[in-house]
Amino acid sequence: MGWFFRTFYSTIGKKLIMSLTGLFLCSFLLVHLTGNFQLFKDDGGEAFNHYSEFMSTNILIRILEIGLFLGFALHMTEAFWLYFLNKRARPVAYAKNQASENSTLISRTMIWSGSIVLVFLLVHLKSFFFDHRIIGSELTMYQGVVQAFQDPLYSWFYVLAMVLLGFHLNHGFQSAFQTLGLNHKKYTPLIKTVGLLFSILVPLGYITMPLYFLFTK
Ligand code: HEM
Repeated sequence: MGWFFRTFYSTIGKKLIMSLTGLFLCSFLLVHLTGNFQLFKDDGGEAFNHYSEFMSTNILIRILEIGLFLGFALHMTEAFWLYFLNKRARPVAYAKNQASENSTLISRTMIWSGSIVLVFLLVHLKSFFFDHRIIGSELTMYQGVVQAFQDPLYSWFYVLAMVLLGFHLNHGFQSAFQTLGLNHKKYTPLIKTVGLLFSILVPLGYITMPLYFLFTK
């Protein structure tokens, strides 16, 4: 366990943990999105309810869920920690700082895009995890989703959060490979292209869901 705490506390270790957990969270985003596409089946929500029943009862999925929770917790703890360490190291800003010349706005605002994604996650967990699995609801999961997405405020906040997630991933995906030292003349352009496509297509996939229920149901 000693190695873990040494990594956890060191600055380079924090970046390493952020990159590994960030990529793990990317894989979760893809799996979750694929499952959620069941919402579009024209069967009154039967397939989606089966799928969510399986996800909430299967023992392997429950174990993976703990891993997911830990992944999020580590990613966020290290993010805020690094942010405050950086602030403490330079409490007064540079007198002359042309940040736009050596970094992008997206990379400088990762803590803000991440924080809005965090608020989104809490709202999302409250409506689809806490209310259904912990408290229990008379609505099926499908009915719960339809009800939530018919609320314009809920749906448009969802869209906004996904756009910011897209920005987060736009920098994060390729940055994670840089952190891991995977910098190669041949592969880096490929990683950048995959990252760009991932950061556009995955959030867009999620956005189709609230908009579909908002405008068609
Ligand atoms: C599904 C959700 C998320 C995914 C897929 C994700 C993914 C990533 C990835 C791949 C990186 C790049 C890591 C690196 O540079 O090595 C990253 C960086 C970052 N993430 Fe996230 N993230 C998510 C949620 C969050 C949340 C909720 C926060 C909360 C504050 C956050 C804060 C940050 C920050 C501040 C960085 C930049 C770290 C740095 O450059 O020093 N992320 N994220």
